Amino acid sequence: MPRIQIGHVTDCCRASAPLADSLAGQARRPLYRCLFAASIGRSYERGFTLAIMRDNYLEEYYSFLRFPSVSTDDKYKEKLVECANWLVNKLNKIGLQTKLVPTKRHPIVWAQNEHRPGRPTVLIYGHYDVQPPDPLELWDSPPFEPVLKNGYVFARGSTDNKGQILSHILGIQETIEEHRELPVNLQLVIEGEEEIGSRNLGPFLTDNRDALKCDVAVISDTGMIARGIPTLSYGLRGATSLEVKVAGPKMDLHSGVFGGAVANPITALAQLLATLHDREGRVAIAGFYDRVKPLEKCEREAWRKLPVDGDKLISEETGVPELFGETGYNSLERTWGRPTAEINGIGGGYQGQGTKTVIASHAFAKLTFRLVPDQRGEEILELAKTHLERNLPKGVTMEVTLGHTGPWYLSDPNDAWGEAAQRALRKAFNRNAALIREGGSIPIVSEFREILGVETLLMGLALPDCRAHSPNENFPLENLEGGMRLNKAILQEIASS
Ligand code: BES
Ligand code: MN
Repeated sequence: MPRIQIGHVTDCCRASAPLADSLAGQARRPLYRCLFAASIGRSYERGFTLAIMRDNYLEEYYSFLRFPSVSTDDKYKEKLVECANWLVNKLNKIGLQTKLVPTKRHPIVWAQNEHRPGRPTVLIYGHYDVQPPDPLELWDSPPFEPVLKNGYVFARGSTDNKGQILSHILGIQETIEEHRELPVNLQLVIEGEEEIGSRNLGPFLTDNRDALKCDVAVISDTGMIARGIPTLSYGLRGATSLEVKVAGPKMDLHSGVFGGAVANPITALAQLLATLHDREGRVAIAGFYDRVKPLEKCEREAWRKLPVDGDKLISEETGVPELFGETGYNSLERTWGRPTAEINGIGGGYQGQGTKTVIASHAFAKLTFRLVPDQRGEEILELAKTHLERNLPKGVTMEVTLGHTGPWYLSDPNDAWGEAAQRALRKAFNRNAALIREGGSIPIVSEFREILGVETLLMGLALPDCRAHSPNENFPLENLEGGMRLNKAILQEIASS
């Protein structure tokens, strides 16, 4: 098999000639046998990574990343279909029986190996859709033209989730090549609507509940607490959304002729949105915290012992002048264990260059709420709507459109499956796994529990500075490879548990 040679890697960290020779030797051995080979220095790590990866893996990764599979914007609809077909083709080629399942919006890719009785069945889930790349001008290179810099691939979707799901696919491919079959029965489900709330995946699970019968689900779509530290996430926040539109005059008005005599919808919206929080960073919607389970002392203590300073990490990664959030909690607690109300978008009035003396006829805002145990999304939306109605300033009208809810998830990292996950993480990364919760959401996880009756092992590969959803999203090849080792290890651990 052709593998990337040290010589043609456009990487700043090149290995020395003798080291390159020894790496080239290792390259002929199966990947998992030359893990963390001997005492390779940190500065050679990336050269090493590339040295043992087959060069077509990088090409395949690039091909996958070149599809602008932006699920939220229908102008990319065809691109999602092309991306899904690329996956179908790839999965068929490695020996899985694969089909493309149409939905009301973007298709689902569903693949299986030949199932045998007496073996556990694992469902591996990922998503091929990505977030919009905007604002384009903030990218150092075009978002759908992947480039490799210092061992990191830059492109939209490189981390979230194409790099991570591809590492599973490549792990499966190598296992089949080496052993002619997998040690478990496999269900592989890769959807195209995760970034828009997975609305059609629940019905797909319900429609195919029997065919999808499995023992446990595995997802790599969460984070590693730091580079090189394997991480098992045992909790996710949920998310729910609404849109609010405030309307005033029947048309945009001359602000000199009418200003002072009518309410300005943008001012009214700003006043309304300002009522969502108090000065202590708490959400001021009545009843918002009623069902929130307080964080337990032992969990807070365990998080304090993690090998990471959450406050420092968030300060550095975001570049904010000062951290801000709910009083009484640190950054990890605020993001993993406490609910929030966020304004994600706001609009209205003149947005062009220069000044336009106008009173806009309307203004809008897009809001989301991150949910924690035991909050209920639909209830939170009703409470929020009531709050907005009660606090609407005079002189304007309002329309609130409620969105879709993805529930939170909380599992036991020390149950039998959690233990298997921890063993696999240790095997793949050569150190003990950090046990964490996450601030992000993967809506389908709670439906795996409700519809299929299984727990999910969240074994993510995203680094804190991966810039998911932001410009310059990136993923280190080191983690593509780590993900392949992890895939092999978890399938093995599940097979023998
Ligand atoms: N991979 C993320 C979820 C994630 C991010 C989990 C960080 C843990 C840490 C996923 O692709 C995502 O972005 N989900 C959306 C879901 C939303 C649209 C309902 C999110 O969290 O915003
Ligand atoms: Mn995402």
